Amino acid sequence: MKLLRRTILALATTSLAAPLALAQSAPKLKVGLMLPYTGTYAALGNAIENGFRLYVAEQGGKLGGREIEYFKVDDESAPPKATDNVNKLIKRDQVDVLIGTVHSGVAMAMAKAAKDSGTILIVPNAGAGAITGTMCAPNIFRSSFTMWQSAYAMGDVAAKKGHKTAVTITWKYAAGEESVNGFKEAFEKGGGKVVKQLTLPFPNEEFQALLTEIAASKPDAVYTFFAGAGAVKFVKDYAASGLKKSIPLYGAGFLTDGTLEAQGAAADGLTTTLHYADNLETKRDKEFRLSYAKSYKLQPDVYAVQGYDAAQMLGIGLNAVKGDVSKKTEFAAALEKARIDSPRGAFTISKSHNPVQDIYLRQVTGKENTFAGIATKALADPGRGCKM
Ligand code: BEZ
Repeated sequence: MKLLRRTILALATTSLAAPLALAQSAPKLKVGLMLPYTGTYAALGNAIENGFRLYVAEQGGKLGGREIEYFKVDDESAPPKATDNVNKLIKRDQVDVLIGTVHSGVAMAMAKAAKDSGTILIVPNAGAGAITGTMCAPNIFRSSFTMWQSAYAMGDVAAKKGHKTAVTITWKYAAGEESVNGFKEAFEKGGGKVVKQLTLPFPNEEFQALLTEIAASKPDAVYTFFAGAGAVKFVKDYAASGLKKSIPLYGAGFLTDGTLEAQGAAADGLTTTLHYADNLETKRDKEFRLSYAKSYKLQPDVYAVQGYDAAQMLGIGLNAVKGDVSKKTEFAAALEKARIDSPRGAFTISKSHNPVQDIYLRQVTGKENTFAGIATKALADPGRGCKM
């Protein structure tokens, strides 16, 4: 009888303790980082990873109560390899969450794979509208921007400066084309006219023939989207050609973010629009910049902020579901009502899961993209074609 009582007691204690033991030994959360670690966007990929890891480290290495285990793939900014690359993370490594990427063409393949498999995806850069437009899904989020956001703001600024004609120049792929279209939309609404749209294949850096064409067209202004190593080369070539003295160059802020050290005096004075600047002078941003500089012996840029915020967004979602990524509806609901305390300034997430954020006007002074005012307040991408 005594033995029976003791057995019943032991069983009861075990079953009560079981959920606690399970919670304590929750497996690590597998985070798949798919980013460019080689090629023209390599520096951007590294900055995103640095930012992401910094936020996780600030939380003691855990998000939503779970330790993080990283799996990495170099996507090389190569769209033809994108589906195979993302499947290495989804099928081979069986990651719980995908973070990536920089290049819009690669990110669209990631979005398709995330949608098909139901894996949570947070895009920490790529700006193609489709990701939070026609391809939008309850499990897809962006911590960055759409190309339209900074470009539209710049078109408005250029028109208000009184420029009447502009030539655009960019790489021929989704990001470049959408950036130019956003600029054109606002510039022409404001009374200007885009008279020529020049392109070259990604990631080609042979700009000379196109610069000669710009000189012959004599527009009032030039608008461009280039980023990473391509942006460094373009800004240097534009100045070396002598065009910088006669035709003002405007860009989405990727033109001068993370690139100023390499561009040197060629970038001095350039005006751009973006959702970050180097001297926002807020407590949040100062703390972030100090912490980043201490950890990596580098100054952060917009890509580092977007990586940091991708981790913040993941943390918000995971906290709401206590680390259980299968609860996708609750995960999404938490982000949809969140106010993300970003170094760029607080932002919210639109219905289609893209940041609603201020776009800043910046001017290059020395090695900084100096804040020169708010170009457009709380700009929301229209999320065209998104049905959720
Ligand atoms: C893109 O491909 O979407 C992109 C790449 C670099 C900077 C900004 C956008």
